[in-house]
Amino acid sequence: MKHIKLRDLDVSRIGLGAMGMSHAYAGAGSDDAESIRTIHRALDLGLTFLDTAEVYGPYVNEELVGRALRGRRDEVVLATKFGLVSHTGRKDGADSSPASVRTAVEGSLKRLGTDRIDLYYQHRVDPGTPIEETVGTLAELVAEGKIRHIGLSEAGPDTIRRAHAVHPVTALQSEYSLFTRDPEARVLPVLRELNIGFVPFSPLGRGFLTGAIRSADQIDPADFRADNPRFARENFAHNLRLADEVAAVAGEIGATPAQVALAWLLAQGDDIAPIPGTRRVGRVEENIGADAVRLTREQLAKLSDLPPAAGETHTEAQMRLIER
Ligand SMILES: NC(=O)c1ccc[n+]([C@@H]2O[C@H](COP(=O)([O-])OP(=O)(O)OC[C@H]3O[C@@H](n4cnc5c(N)ncnc54)[C@H](OP(=O)(O)O)[C@@H]3O)[C@@H](O)[C@H]2O)c1
Repeated sequence: MKHIKLRDLDVSRIGLGAMGMSHAYAGAGSDDAESIRTIHRALDLGLTFLDTAEVYGPYVNEELVGRALRGRRDEVVLATKFGLVSHTGRKDGADSSPASVRTAVEGSLKRLGTDRIDLYYQHRVDPGTPIEETVGTLAELVAEGKIRHIGLSEAGPDTIRRAHAVHPVTALQSEYSLFTRDPEARVLPVLRELNIGFVPFSPLGRGFLTGAIRSADQIDPADFRADNPRFARENFAHNLRLADEVAAVAGEIGATPAQVALAWLLAQGDDIAPIPGTRRVGRVEENIGADAVRLTREQLAKLSDLPPAAGETHTEAQMRLIER
């Protein structure tokens, strides 16, 4: 698999998001053995970039990843996130105060069974703590060898600049896909100016772009997508048409829709490493196969010209923590 650099951090240009193995999707946590096989298969196929977070579960997803990496820790760039679990008693969960970050990192290191986190992201910007204070603490953790690189997630241009002025930021992780083009206008130009890498999350539109979801009735009420505006009945038909356009391009080249959605993202720059999520061996094989998919200039243009998906990417409450 081709590798790229997120600033000076080398990663396979397709990573694996572990969230859905333990969190958010209906059925999460029901087959840890298959999830661990999925991680091992990804590593065997040359994938070196794994993504988890303290809040997934909470905690159990990091434990699962830690179990999967026993004896294989050095094969991966291991990324996790802090800041959506408060360790100082805040009620809404968002907490990037120095005391909370210090507690969080010790817990993540323990659960992941490692002595260092390769890329440690703030999960959401904390309105209650100046970003300079948070990044100052992260810089201390770098100096102590507990983390190697600093990342942000769903931070806007101003926060990115302020954070980067305190300590170099290696990567921003935010939602980006054929469904969610928001980062293109204001965020990507700043990342390129500052030489910060970009890690698109939910690159398959939470499964929608793969063509596997054809009706709102397919979403289990226990699944977090049941509340997600993108999957609401009033937006479904519009978004299904977009997924059908992706499937049409896939049909032209004998690839799958998931591979086309990923290949389009990969074509947006050599500073981009998406982290599609799956808990199934067959799907991780399919998604890694996107590394070999080449889209023509015409296909790329056609996909880039698609209108945005209908409906916000998150619920109203979740949107309040997202900077644009
Ligand atoms: N920073 C943040 O705030 C944030 C937010 C969300 C996610 N993330 C990270 O980004 C990763 C990926 O995002 P995501 O899981 O939200 O969305 P995604 O990668 O866009 O989609 C995952 C969904 O698509 C399904 N899927 C995966 N490959 C498929 C294929 N080839 N064919 C059909 N269906 C397929 C998965 O189901 P199966 O598992 O059943 O295959 C799952 O339901 C997460 O694991 C997490 O690490 C970060």
